[in-house]
Amino acid sequence: MSGIRPTGYLHLGNYFGAVRNYVRMQDEFECYFMVADLHSLTTHPDTKELKLNVHRVLSENIACGLDPDKVALYCQSHIYETAELYLYLNMLAYKGELEKTVTFKDKARQHPDNINAGLLTYPVLQAADIILHRAKYVPVGKDQEQHLEMARNFVNRFNHRYGDVFPEPIAFNFGDDLVKVPSLDGAGKMSKSENQYATLYLSDDDELIRKKVMKAKTDSGPTEPNTPMPDYIENIFLLMKLVSAEDVVAKYQGDYNNCIIRYGDMKKQLAEDMVKFITPIREQADSIRNDEKYLKEIMEKGAAKARKSAKATIELVRDAMGLNYY
Ligand code: TRP
Repeated sequence: MSGIRPTGYLHLGNYFGAVRNYVRMQDEFECYFMVADLHSLTTHPDTKELKLNVHRVLSENIACGLDPDKVALYCQSHIYETAELYLYLNMLAYKGELEKTVTFKDKARQHPDNINAGLLTYPVLQAADIILHRAKYVPVGKDQEQHLEMARNFVNRFNHRYGDVFPEPIAFNFGDDLVKVPSLDGAGKMSKSENQYATLYLSDDDELIRKKVMKAKTDSGPTEPNTPMPDYIENIFLLMKLVSAEDVVAKYQGDYNNCIIRYGDMKKQLAEDMVKFITPIREQADSIRNDEKYLKEIMEKGAAKARKSAKATIELVRDAMGLNYY
């Protein structure tokens, strides 16, 4: 089970870091992937763009290979059982631990005029999302580790007080899929918040992709064989390894070692290979996004699958808690 926030566009870092992992999981596990629209209300109370954002995030993930026939792909707000479980878990979550959460402190600093209770209990809602399906494996990045640890604490408190209902959820990744995608400006990895020109989005058009790649920092090249690569050059090679053919990468590696590399040519090649990689995803995402009927269908299908699993869990929860006296 994992949740995807409906804010921002997917970039290459999300693709190789997260989405590719989901796509691999769908063939081996019973998967629940959810658009976290309720979570977005903790920081974005204005819902004018929510529908568009939800549609976009669904379209992009499907275009990347997530298959709504194989997984339950749904919206958080469509599953009312989440709210019920969230309420029960809130009684097992302590103010002190919630206030200590790193993401809460960060967001409180960023939005000092909107430190609402939903923001404080964000990790409780996330725990409810996960354990609603009694999920064990949660494909997430490092930034979510604290939330998962809190989910395990809530699970243990629940199980201890009311009886074993939930397994402990743990972070899951296919080892070699945790690829770090470097940014194009040689500083850190691709991310939403950094310099826009340093990040390639799956929605970028061909010209923008070329422009961004050609802007990547290079120098006049090595003059001695076996010169260690500067970070920003190594990053261009790393990006090339993600999207270009092996023999292409090997050619430029040879050119580097022989001190005859022409970075202009290398970037042109990388730009074309990026275009080839991104264009079909962008085009498919666009066509899905424009098909509201299809989006409605997949949301309904996803919600039906999620609801089935949610209802079964809520039955167990009410029984365990002794709330079944009617
Ligand atoms: N908090 C997650 C993020 O910021 C999104 C999320 C919501 C999530 N519910 C989840 C992730 C459940 C994993 C499981 O990316």
